[in-house]
Amino acid sequence: MTQIRVELGEQSYPILVEPGALEMAAQHLQGFAANKRLFVLTDDHVGAHLLPRLQHAFAGSAIDLVVKSLPAGEASKSWRQLERVTDWLLAEGAERSDTLVALGGGVIGDLTGFAAAIVKRGCNFVQIPTSLLAQVDSSVGGKTAINSSVGKNLIGSFNQPRFVLIDPLVLNSLPDRELRAGYAEVVKYGLINDARFFEWCEANSEQLLNREPDALSEAIVHSVRAKALIVGEDEKELSGRRALLNLGHTFGHALEAETGFSDRLVHGEAVAAGMALAFRYSVRRGHCDAADAERVAAHLKAVGLPHSLASASVQASGARLVDHMMHDKKMSGGTLPFLLANGIGQSFLAKDVDLADVAAFLDESA
Ligand code: GLY
Repeated sequence: MTQIRVELGEQSYPILVEPGALEMAAQHLQGFAANKRLFVLTDDHVGAHLLPRLQHAFAGSAIDLVVKSLPAGEASKSWRQLERVTDWLLAEGAERSDTLVALGGGVIGDLTGFAAAIVKRGCNFVQIPTSLLAQVDSSVGGKTAINSSVGKNLIGSFNQPRFVLIDPLVLNSLPDRELRAGYAEVVKYGLINDARFFEWCEANSEQLLNREPDALSEAIVHSVRAKALIVGEDEKELSGRRALLNLGHTFGHALEAETGFSDRLVHGEAVAAGMALAFRYSVRRGHCDAADAERVAAHLKAVGLPHSLASASVQASGARLVDHMMHDKKMSGGTLPFLLANGIGQSFLAKDVDLADVAAFLDESA
C-alpha cells in the first residue's frame, strides 16, 4: 500500500494506491459518509463490471450507496448529463456534507467533480478511477469540466477531491486499447522531467501492458507522485509549472479535433502522437537532439501507440491543424504556449512559438 499526499494547505488530500483497494472501499470511505450514505456516479460499462464489487464491499456496512449510471463515453460530459446528475442529487436530498463518489474513468471523474462543485455551492467528492489514464492523470489535481459545443473541457472548475482510491487490479478488465492509451500519460512523466523514468518505461512497458501487477503499481505510484508534486506547486496552472503536464496536448488536441473527438483517435493516443510531434518540432527549432526525438517516437511505436501524423491516420494540412489549436483554452492574448523539450526529461514552456512555423512543420511531417 502506498499513500501519496497532494499538498494544498486546507485542501490537501491523500491518494491511496493499493491492489485490492476496491474490496476495502467501505473501510476507506466510511469517514466520508456523513449521512450514512454515498452518492455513486458511474457509467454503463464500468458499472457492469465494478459496481457489483463496490456494492459487495459495502454490504453489511451501515452505509447506503445511492447510485446513478450514465451512458459510457465522452458525450456524457455535457450540459444535459450534468443537469440529469444535479437534478438527481437534488431530488435525492443531497446536502453539502454529502460525498459523491466517481467510479469510472476521466469522463465520470470530470462530471462528478464538476457536479460536486456546483450542487448547493459545493459538496464533497472522492475519486475511484478505473482506467489507467484516470489513475495516473485525471483523478489527481482537481481539474473538472464538461464539454461545450465550442470545444472540450471549456466549462468547469478547479475542485479538488477529498480522497483518491486507486486499485491497480481494476485495470484487469480494461480493454487493451484503453490501457495503451493511458500508458501514453505514464510515458509523459518521464519526458517532462524524469529521464530515468523514461528509461524505466522503455525497460518495463511490456510487463506493464501485460498487466503485471508490480509493473502497473510502480508506474501508477511514480506517475501520481510526479503529478501530486506539480499540482502542489501550481494548483491552478498559473506559474507555468502545471502547464508541463500538457506536454503533447496542444498537438494532440488538434489531432483529436480533426478526428472529431471520436474513437478514431482516443485522448491518450492523440497525446502520444502529440508528444512525438512536440519532440520533432523541438529538433526543428534547435532545442533538442534528433536522437532524442527518434528515441521517443521509437518507444511509442514499439508499444503500438501513434507516433506521427500518418500513424495517427491524420491527413489534414498544417494550416487546418493550427486552426484547431487556436480553439485551445490555453490561447492567451492571441498566442499559444507550447510544451517543447531540450531533451528527454527536459521539457519547457515556450511562449514565442510562431503558429505559421508550426503549420509549415506539420506540412513537412505529413
Ligand atoms: N491533465 C493535466 C492536468 O491535470 O493539469
